Amino acid sequence: MNTPTVEIHLTDEDLTTALREDVRSGLTAEPKWLPPKWFYDARGSELFEKITELPEYYPTRTERALLERVVGEIARIAQAEVLVELGAGSAAKTRLLLNALRSAGPLKSYVPQDVSVSALRMAADEVASEFPGVGVHGVVSDFTATLDNLPGGGRRMVAFLGGTIGNLVPSERAEFLRGIRDVLEPGEQLLLGAGLVIDPAVLVPAYDDAAGVTAEFNRNVLHVLNTRLGANFEPEKFAHVAIWDAENEWIEMRLEATEAMTVRIPELDLTVEFASGEQLRTEISAKFRREVLENELDAAGFSTERIWTDPDDRFALVLAERR
Ligand code: AVJ
Repeated sequence: MNTPTVEIHLTDEDLTTALREDVRSGLTAEPKWLPPKWFYDARGSELFEKITELPEYYPTRTERALLERVVGEIARIAQAEVLVELGAGSAAKTRLLLNALRSAGPLKSYVPQDVSVSALRMAADEVASEFPGVGVHGVVSDFTATLDNLPGGGRRMVAFLGGTIGNLVPSERAEFLRGIRDVLEPGEQLLLGAGLVIDPAVLVPAYDDAAGVTAEFNRNVLHVLNTRLGANFEPEKFAHVAIWDAENEWIEMRLEATEAMTVRIPELDLTVEFASGEQLRTEISAKFRREVLENELDAAGFSTERIWTDPDDRFALVLAERR
C-alpha cells in the first residue's frame, strides 16, 4: 500500500494568531484592508470552487486547457523526480502533471503543500491510491512563510498554479520568488501560472459575476471574522466592489459599507467604525505582461525557459530554471 505522509508545520493555533495580527493591522489602517488568504474557510473554498465554474471566470478553465495542451512539453523539459505543488488545495491539476512527468522520466514523489489539513489529507490519499509508484509527502504550511521545510529527495519542479501569484503585491512577489529560489538547487524548476493583462471588459466581469457568487465569496471574509474572532459584522450590509486599477494592472476587490456601522471584535478587544460608503480592500489580483514575468523571475534568480499562453492570450504558464 502507498501510504502518504502529512507533515504539519502550521497548526490551527498558528492560523488564529496570524489572523488576529492581520485583522488588527488591517482594520486599524487607513484605508482598511484584509489579506485575501482569509477567504478560504470551508465555505469560502466552496464558493471559490463555484466561481471557477462561472461563465465569466475564465482563468481556471483557461489554465487547465493550456496545461492539458502543453503538459507533455513541460514534463520533457523539466525531467522532475519530485513535483512540489504550492497551494495544492484539491490537487485538481495534479493528475495532468503527474501523468506527464511519469511518462517523461523518473518521477519519484509528489509533495503537495497547503494551509488546509483536511484538503491536503484528501488530496494526498487520492493521489497515493491513483499513483501507487509515487511517494506522497504532504506539507501543511503557509507558503509565504515556511518554504524551507519542503522535502527534497530528487530533482524538483515547484508548481504554483492558478494565478495566485497575483494576490501578492510586487514586494511580496519578489520575496516569495526569492524564497523559492533559495530552497532550490541550480537547475531545478519553477512552473508558474499567471493571468495576463487583458481587456477590462472581459476581466472585470470575471471578478463581478452576474450571479453574485464572487460578491458572496468577498463577503465571506467577514463571516470568517465573525466565526473565528467573535466579531459582529453584518456581511449583507457590505456591497461587493471590483475595479480594474489600470496603473498597477491589478483587479482590486473591496467591500463597501452601505451605511455607517460600528463593529465589535471581542477577541481583539477592538471596535472598528465604518463610515457610510467606506471601502475595505480585500484582495488584489494582479495580471501580468510577459516581460514583467520574465523580469521578476530574473531578478529572483530564475531564467525563463519557456512561456506558453492560451489562444486568446489570457493566461500564461511559465517554466523557469533556478540559476
Ligand atoms: C484563487 C487567487 C487565483 O485571484 O483570481 C477569484 C481568487 N478572487 N475571484 C483570483 C478569486 C475573486 C483567485 N485566485
